[in-house]
Amino acid sequence: MTDPDQQTVWHEQNLAEPHAVRDKARRVRAMFNAVAPTYELVNTLTSFGRDAYWRRRAVELSRVTGTDRVLDLACGTGDLARAFAAARPAPALVVGADFAGEMIRRAAGTSSPAMRWCQADALSLPFLNEQFTAVSCAFGVRNLQDLKAGFREVHRVLSPDGRAVILEFSNPSAKVTRALFHFYFNRMLPAIATLISRDRSGAYRYLPRSVLRFASRSQIVNLLREVGFERIEVHPLTFGIAVVYLAAKAHIHPVNA
Ligand SMILES: C[S@@+](CC[C@H](N)C(=O)[O-])C[C@H]1O[C@@H](n2cnc3c(N)ncnc32)[C@H](O)[C@@H]1O
Repeated sequence: MTDPDQQTVWHEQNLAEPHAVRDKARRVRAMFNAVAPTYELVNTLTSFGRDAYWRRRAVELSRVTGTDRVLDLACGTGDLARAFAAARPAPALVVGADFAGEMIRRAAGTSSPAMRWCQADALSLPFLNEQFTAVSCAFGVRNLQDLKAGFREVHRVLSPDGRAVILEFSNPSAKVTRALFHFYFNRMLPAIATLISRDRSGAYRYLPRSVLRFASRSQIVNLLREVGFERIEVHPLTFGIAVVYLAAKAHIHPVNA
């Protein structure tokens, strides 16, 4: 019998507007369950090791301390959560959450005493309000069915002085870099990644399309503001191929304070 996760989930019709597909979340989960065994290897090879640097930089920019309680959303196989746990000083707690069973199962295989893993949907988190001082998400928000609802959930679980740390692909602003990036990302990466992973889900055709059709930096900043974040910083990395967004949960100032 064919494993349903090995069936093609992305094809030309639904890739025209991947973020508008009604059952995007179901397709995203099936795709990540399918590519989980080779996910980290493909990332390292196709980014020439830059992905590890981008996550380390996100951790540095978040300036965690020993009292922080970090939630890493859409944690995948756990690379960013582990980078947080390796920070010095290390946060008191790092929880990794992902809705794809095959990804979180691999994350849970490598752990340290301050780390916890949980299979959960980022749009409906099983946590009470204000549980975390930092919520991170690397290459995850682009995959959400509803980006604004995802940002609202991040805001809800953050403590009043908490901050969001979002790492995501972006379009380089310089013309030449953008042209080179598009050529590599659209033409070469899908072929190389599909060959290594032997993927049949269409994951590496979805990847460039989902980046190119995703919200712009200013749209992301506006959405973060709309759900209540303030002091938003945008840090481009590696010619702007990746960006770290830092956003502070707005303090509620008492009247007459
Ligand atoms: C590109 S991977 C990123 C994984 C990891 N953060 C990293 O840096 O390698 C995207 C992850 O987002 C997860 N994801 C997408 N939508 C989600 C949702 N609604 N709730 C939880 N996880 C989600 C996928 O299962 C996948 O593991």
